[in-house]
Amino acid sequence: MTTPAPTPKREDLHRIADLCPQRWVQHYTRSKLSSDPVYGAVAKEVIGTSQPILDIGCGIGLLAHYLHACGHLLPVTGFDYDQRKIDSAVAMAASAGHTHLNFAAGDARTGLPEFSGHVVILDILQFFTEPEQDTLLTAAASRVAPGAKLIIRSGLQDDSGRFRITVLVDYLAKACLWMKAAPTRYPNAAQFQRVLTAAGLKVSIKPMWGGTPFNNFLIVGER
Ligand SMILES: C[S@@+](CC[C@H](N)C(=O)[O-])C[C@H]1O[C@@H](n2cnc3c(N)ncnc32)[C@H](O)[C@@H]1O
Repeated sequence: MTTPAPTPKREDLHRIADLCPQRWVQHYTRSKLSSDPVYGAVAKEVIGTSQPILDIGCGIGLLAHYLHACGHLLPVTGFDYDQRKIDSAVAMAASAGHTHLNFAAGDARTGLPEFSGHVVILDILQFFTEPEQDTLLTAAASRVAPGAKLIIRSGLQDDSGRFRITVLVDYLAKACLWMKAAPTRYPNAAQFQRVLTAAGLKVSIKPMWGGTPFNNFLIVGER
């Protein structure tokens, strides 16, 4: 029997959105937190464990706030190369009074913070070349503590209509300046199996489409 993902109350999600600095980001956040299945999927993997979390490519820190709303009060460290987003994440955590949430700016292509616990990578691998993806996955896996998990959401490269929609929306995100970069390369399932198994993790890969049109998969590596 599978455990259902913890679901925060609607008013908690609205409270998170209200922390955002601009009106349009508030609307985006409200809709993303209530419709994107990834936050519930990560919550399901980590709630009830006692390990801290490193969120690589954390954006404005939505996962950290979502987990808090699910009752997950352990430290979350967010890491992103977009200084504007890190500034917003720091301001939002301060407004909410969440001292267990920390955010740091840095480029995951040139190194990751020292860390041991769960590691999360949501929707950032498409910005990397294949060697950069392999290097990041290996570095992330080395930070997964015994009993902890590497939890990844990524669009996978294949010849489906879902994949074409995923690419189109990533280009739109760059065109409207929400993302600093256009996509570079999408990983594939064999690559995750190869790199994460070599790093000592037990890997599972399953579709995570929810109500979205995207070709997204949840990849979990467990140590
Ligand atoms: C699609 S957003 C996902 C945000 C967040 N993970 C979420 O799901 O709410 C991708 C994030 O990856 C960040 N990113 C892209 N390349 C990066 C890099 N080389 N180092 C660190 N962060 C990066 C972007 O700034 C952006 O915030």
